Amino acid sequence: MKVNPIKKILLASLLCLACCGQLFAQKFEELAQTPPMGWNSWNTFQTNIDLPLLKGMVDTYVSSGMKDAGYTYFVLDDGWMAMQRDKDGNLVADPKKFPNGMKEFADYVHAKGLKFGIYNCAGTLTCAGYPGTRGYEYQDARLYASWGVDYLKFDWCNTDGINAVEAYKTMSKAIRAAGRPMIFSLCEWGQHKPWRWAKDVGQLWRSTGDIGAGFEKNISKGGWTALSVLSILDQQDSIRQYAGPGHWNDPDMLEVGNGMKYNEDKAHFSLWCMLAAPLMAGNDLRKMSDQTRAILTNKELIALDQDPLGVEAFRFYAFDGIEIWVKPLANNELGVCFLNRSGKPQKVSYDWKDHVINDALSNTGFDFNQTTYKLRDLWEKKDIGTTTKPFSQVIPADDVVVLRLTK
Ligand code: GLA
Repeated sequence: MKVNPIKKILLASLLCLACCGQLFAQKFEELAQTPPMGWNSWNTFQTNIDLPLLKGMVDTYVSSGMKDAGYTYFVLDDGWMAMQRDKDGNLVADPKKFPNGMKEFADYVHAKGLKFGIYNCAGTLTCAGYPGTRGYEYQDARLYASWGVDYLKFDWCNTDGINAVEAYKTMSKAIRAAGRPMIFSLCEWGQHKPWRWAKDVGQLWRSTGDIGAGFEKNISKGGWTALSVLSILDQQDSIRQYAGPGHWNDPDMLEVGNGMKYNEDKAHFSLWCMLAAPLMAGNDLRKMSDQTRAILTNKELIALDQDPLGVEAFRFYAFDGIEIWVKPLANNELGVCFLNRSGKPQKVSYDWKDHVINDALSNTGFDFNQTTYKLRDLWEKKDIGTTTKPFSQVIPADDVVVLRLTK
């Protein structure tokens, strides 16, 4: 039989398209156009979660102003499931922790106007030893969709012999096939440089190992080391070009309210906002102090994080333990963070006119000899003059001043 050459080309193109569909994961493109914001159970509770505790957390999420400030996702981390799958291979919520199953809790979260997230792992077991998803990707994705899951955090323990790129692509495709839009949060700790390959696989990827509630020094946890805020910060500068709307570097969840000093919490939050980081609170919302709440719900800081341009800050200047991080914003505005990591109070005198700030990545430039900008202090919540005069202020140790520059 003779096949018309045009038909041949059409057929070949169709085949090629089908193959490409299999090769490349097709994430839900419209999600996380700005960095996702939410709360996650891990940093405070680890696996010690149950229905009454979590319902209380959901209620406080709303009543404390977190929801109004823009936090949307409520994510259960490791430890939500029973130790065994059921006879059909389905995951089951731990019946002691969730006596009426997970759908009931997901409905509770949704009824409060929040979105619901859950955790599992690419390996055979999760990091805390619960059933992992290896070999059950499509089945688990369908189950999550039936529960109304909106966000999946996918970890990397117990993965000997598994190819990371393929494992995460498979889960991404499984989510797509299940049909419910879910943010896919890759959590392989930056080991396989996900910023290089995960843009089309998920909406965010962890860039480092786990954070701990330490500002400067890492914290030894016995078998492993929890990274400090500053050591994570130092690993972000070189990967900023990989982040943007729909695909974010994730320097891990927030430790605000988990034991650091007020100024350290404030600096941690500021730096994460400058980095356009996903903002996942990890504290006990029911017990948070007014100071902690004021940090987490500072709307002007959050607006830096959520800026629609979606560009991460970079370290523009460093001298004597003072660093200046700058974040180009939409409408030719600029976020500027003075960070004092010298360990002692420092007087900063900075003449805007001495430095032109250029950013090839966002194609933006700021020459203060040409254009005068107004300065707003986002923690003091007041306007503090313009770039015609040098910025001069004493910054306490482990603290920040964050400014928004507008024309
Ligand atoms: C890993 C992740 C953490 C948390 C735990 C749960 O360490 O990086 O964020 O999810 O597993 O066991």
